[in-house]
Amino acid sequence: YVYAGVTSKENFYGRNNPVELIEKYGSPLYVYNEKILRDRCKDMSGLIDYPNFIVNYSAKANSNLHLLEIIRDEGLNVDAMSPGEIFVELKAGFSPDQILYIGNNVSADELQYALDTGVKISVDSIAQLDLFGRINPGGEVFVRFNPGVGAGHNPKVVTGGKKTKFGVQAEYIDDVKRVLDEHNLRLIGINQHIGSLFMDGEPYLAGVKSLLAIAEEFDSIEYIDIGGGFGIPYHKHDGQERLNIQELGGMLNELIYNWVADYGREITIMVEPGRYIAAECGVLLGSVYSLKENYGIKYVGTDLGFNVLKRPMIYGSHHDIEIYRKEEVDSSVQEEVTIVGNICESGDIIAKKREFPRIFEGDLLGVLDAGAYGFSMASNYNNRLRPAEVLINEQGDDLLIRRRDTLEQLINNF
Ligand code: LLP
Repeated sequence: YVYAGVTSKENFYGRNNPVELIEKYGSPLYVYNEKILRDRCKDMSGLIDYPNFIVNYSAKANSNLHLLEIIRDEGLNVDAMSPGEIFVELKAGFSPDQILYIGNNVSADELQYALDTGVKISVDSIAQLDLFGRINPGGEVFVRFNPGVGAGHNPKVVTGGKKTKFGVQAEYIDDVKRVLDEHNLRLIGINQHIGSLFMDGEPYLAGVKSLLAIAEEFDSIEYIDIGGGFGIPYHKHDGQERLNIQELGGMLNELIYNWVADYGREITIMVEPGRYIAAECGVLLGSVYSLKENYGIKYVGTDLGFNVLKRPMIYGSHHDIEIYRKEEVDSSVQEEVTIVGNICESGDIIAKKREFPRIFEGDLLGVLDAGAYGFSMASNYNNRLRPAEVLINEQGDDLLIRRRDTLEQLINNF
């Protein structure tokens, strides 16, 4: 098989090639490379050299059971946003104390489920702290604060600052203390998450400073979770550089060591990256079924609808795309095309008016950096089946790690 145009994915498919993988497992297909996943886990584990440091992988980015097992094997812990994530993480072998459940507007039943499983729990408002206290007086809890700064690739994923629903603002610390006292709760940790995808560490560091200042207000804290959001370069084909995590780690180290020395108590620092761990190990493969031109726009029609990868449709996100085919053909002509899926909405566009070497019917497309927020946001919209997931292990073999949905599954709950 051949690449048309540039590739950043030499060796990604191990001893396989994308054409064979699609023949074997069908299209579309998520493919993950184990080595890359493990490397990203190692990067994050080495972010700071402060010894009491835990990386909580944020499983919402990708909660495939097999990938979670690999991440656990790399020594990471996890966070969870729902009973479903707690359930899957326990199945993947994480022990309850390795899981931090970060609730947001949750019911008493949901809190009770989390308490029954024995995971650590963070609440996101004074009202929810009160609910927690009524259910579990005398318990241990984290509170999520909003440090007043935010960052992210799109306003929809900025989760800190003055325009978001998340966390408790620092001005309400006295109310937090009052509710803790009322229910005899012990505040063992505080956490924050300023948003998803920063390539510049400044806002992150500013958020950490505010959180550390909040920590000084409490004397029972054992854990400070400074959040995720570490970006990855989605524009690799244009030479975009990686986030310099050595540099960021160096600045965090200095901040944390100095702060802990002043504070004078043992503190465990946590981070919760999702995208950084899972994005780059994943490629979404799809097939080109039809080419057409409508009113001057050249459309490449594929099976890569927004039921499979939602990011371009809801955030206008860019993913680099590669072209794979069985045999060399002359595609040296560059064309501006719009790559669309098979869903009945005109917003079903994965790449809008982008230059590619000429694409032909029967070509395969590889959508890069699709490992995070790809499958985890996929749906059965239009009653389409969610794709299978395949892992390329470190020996270069392909393993099916999730079967494609079946038609029967569409009526299972009736
Ligand atoms: N912790 C909390 C509390 C979060 O809400 C999130 C993500 C993370 C950690 C992990 O953030 P990360 O390291 O992955 O940036 N669907 C969007 C991203 C939404 C992220 C929401 N929160 C996307 O596809 O870009």
